[in-house]
Amino acid sequence: MAREGTKKQALNRSGSGQAQAGQGETLQPTPGGPSNPPKVGTGPPGHARGRPVLESAAGVEGGVKGKGQGLLKGKEEVEEALNLRPRRLAEYIGQGQVVESLGIAIEAAKKRGDAVDHVLLYGPPGLGKTTLAHIIAREMDVGIVTTSGPALEKGGDLIGILTHLKKGDVFFIDEIHRLPKTVEEYLYSAVEDFAISIVFDKGSHARSYRSRLEKFTLVGATTRAGLISSPLRERFGIQRALDFYTMEELCRVVRRSAALLQVPVDEEGVVEIARRSRGTPRIANRILRRVRDYAQVRHGGVITRPVTQEALELEGIDGEGLTTLDKKFLETVIIHYKGGPVGLEAIAAVLQEETDTLVDMVEPFLLKAGFILRTPKGRKATDKAHGYLGLPKTSAEERQLSFLPGQR
Ligand code: ADE
Repeated sequence: MAREGTKKQALNRSGSGQAQAGQGETLQPTPGGPSNPPKVGTGPPGHARGRPVLESAAGVEGGVKGKGQGLLKGKEEVEEALNLRPRRLAEYIGQGQVVESLGIAIEAAKKRGDAVDHVLLYGPPGLGKTTLAHIIAREMDVGIVTTSGPALEKGGDLIGILTHLKKGDVFFIDEIHRLPKTVEEYLYSAVEDFAISIVFDKGSHARSYRSRLEKFTLVGATTRAGLISSPLRERFGIQRALDFYTMEELCRVVRRSAALLQVPVDEEGVVEIARRSRGTPRIANRILRRVRDYAQVRHGGVITRPVTQEALELEGIDGEGLTTLDKKFLETVIIHYKGGPVGLEAIAAVLQEETDTLVDMVEPFLLKAGFILRTPKGRKATDKAHGYLGLPKTSAEERQLSFLPGQR
């Protein structure tokens, strides 16, 4: 197993700048870099120094993934989402400490004429990880290249991007926890030594080619910090969690977005939208657009509380921002599993949903809002969940009975 041997060697030395080309790859060393250059497009209007960004730099978290570089969405929606996104740290609402410490890192790097240290941002979807990556690039006046973990299938995909980065550029990898292991290994030396070594051929014919990279800033984003390997995690000098937004912050986001969209909204309308946004600015902005449409078609264009209530009833979003899937999740725990504890896989099986969807999109807010508890034995519905859905708690006696044969 000559290849195994070579691979092991490459792995051992990965921390000091050695990795191996992915299985079956034919990488040819060329002066510009050994792989295909990444497809580039133009950044958002006014983008820093007109530097290139991958097409997907305009992508929005949760967009459709394309090969090599992901996150493409309908053009209009992308443009609108971008328009609503803050472009500067000073415009960014919420995440106070994260914003402050990033501001310091940016200012210090600028003073030194250096790149910002690598940044890992984690937390539930829609809280602004991608937005912050773009802001870092803009504040540093550098280019940004964006991609996502699953889009980088082979070492060559990554190398093609890395070798085209310019000094100080931001390289943003969304869903970094889904990076294939072989690709991750290239990243170690790239972020630590700003160099990559590519091993060609096998066994006694093995040759390696070392390519120097420009110093860049890797910004990784993930909804699952726990799934990132420690060698990768440790290479991020800045690691910050994003948390759900407060009502006050969400109200500010809604007011700002309504002003940018030029939609009239009264203060009660603002509060109603914020209340149903699950602590998430992306949801606030999505809801705002839906309510805007509804107000324009049915109510002469002004967003008020009753207009918001009517519009969101139609969208299946209730007064606390819970969706049909959230409620089905709670009902499954309460009715099917008598309030829990129950494992997530069992809930996913009943709902016929992917476990990942529940972990990323459903659970975080239900936990935060106090509808469920995570215990060592599984998920449990809280008194609040029972009260909210009007479902009584299962008595100890009923529980006991449910374990007897023929009772379930
Ligand atoms: N739009 C979406 N997220 C935002 C934020 N954090 N601040 C301002 N506007 C936003």
